[in-house]
Amino acid sequence: MTVLGIETSCDETAIAVLDIKDMEHVSVRANVVSSQIALHAKFGGVVPNLAAREHANNIGHVLEAALKEAKISDIGKKVDLIAVTRGPGLGPALLVGIAFAKALAWKYDKPLVGADHMRAHVYSNWLPDSAGKLISLQASKRFPILNLIVSGGHTELVLMDGYENFKLIGETMDDAVGEAFDKVARLLGLGYPGGPAISRRAEKWKSEARLRPELRPRGNPKFKIKFPRPMEKSKNYNFSFSGLKTAVLYKIQDLKEAGIEITDDIKDQLCFEFQRSAVDVLVQKTIRAAQEHGAKTILLSGGVSANSLLRTELSKAAADSGLAYGQPLLTYTGDNAAMIGLAGYAAQKYGKADTDWQSVDMDANLFIATSN
Ligand code: KG4
Ligand code: ZN
Repeated sequence: MTVLGIETSCDETAIAVLDIKDMEHVSVRANVVSSQIALHAKFGGVVPNLAAREHANNIGHVLEAALKEAKISDIGKKVDLIAVTRGPGLGPALLVGIAFAKALAWKYDKPLVGADHMRAHVYSNWLPDSAGKLISLQASKRFPILNLIVSGGHTELVLMDGYENFKLIGETMDDAVGEAFDKVARLLGLGYPGGPAISRRAEKWKSEARLRPELRPRGNPKFKIKFPRPMEKSKNYNFSFSGLKTAVLYKIQDLKEAGIEITDDIKDQLCFEFQRSAVDVLVQKTIRAAQEHGAKTILLSGGVSANSLLRTELSKAAADSGLAYGQPLLTYTGDNAAMIGLAGYAAQKYGKADTDWQSVDMDANLFIATSN
């Protein structure tokens, strides 16, 4: 069947067209993402009403572009199902996509399904590359799967026993890990979003510290920087990242009070150590949760799954523990509508989703373990 996916939960206006035979035979015919990042950057984060206005301005053009890319001239004849993000996300932003999707469903008399944005991140692991190859893994054959979902708004460990069968194992008690990256980046004046900037600086530090011994903490004890691994040893599978962010803030204050200028080198090192701490906790807890819950596979997803240290460390740790591992293609780590199309398909095929357009409602706080 041909599915039209629509995503407006945060700062990307996205529409995709997928052909889906079953979960393991998916082809992405169009995947258009119009990002508002530049608009929100000057405010240091996403402004909900501004996001909604931009979605409303852009969504018609994004649809046109997606239909053109997929070579579809008539939605009425060529589309079988419309899927739209119903939550979680920013209320005003979600409403634009939902209203637009309802209007399309009504106009063309199509079934409409409300998709869960977090489940959609999980399903991004089922999206193939441009040659149509499913590179993440044949995940359906490896249930139970333990998902580590890491984004700007969520950090969750979710056990998946089958399609649409999700159980929350652990989550953050305060900031999401992406939020912590964004806040640390703001402390260091690195702009929004913070994840990519921190990751780049951390990589730079790693390569330069080796070449310039004077930068190494041992070479210069004044700059010795080490951050805590919050909740690493706690028995449950919850996380906490706000203390880690505060530890970075205190370190910056200490350095300044000691008369040390926060140079680019020091910023790089702070990024490296912060990223190391965050990734250590995520990897350690994910592996432990997978073992305790008898998972066969670990799947990573969400915006922070673009982080290269997290990708390599989690994949190594899974292999060391004899677990299968998968991660989305980089194209699908951030918010996109291809994952929404697939999540909508799964919700109506394996869940209890209603496909009458009148029954699709926004739920800004939608919770992965109970939705649909
Ligand atoms: O899933 P997403 O695109 O939007 C939400 O649903 O929240 O995630 C966005 C988050 C932001 O916090 C951003 O800083 C983070 O993902 N992010 C990264 C990287 N790329 C994006 N965090 C760490 N390393 C990255 N390379
Ligand atoms: Zn997201």
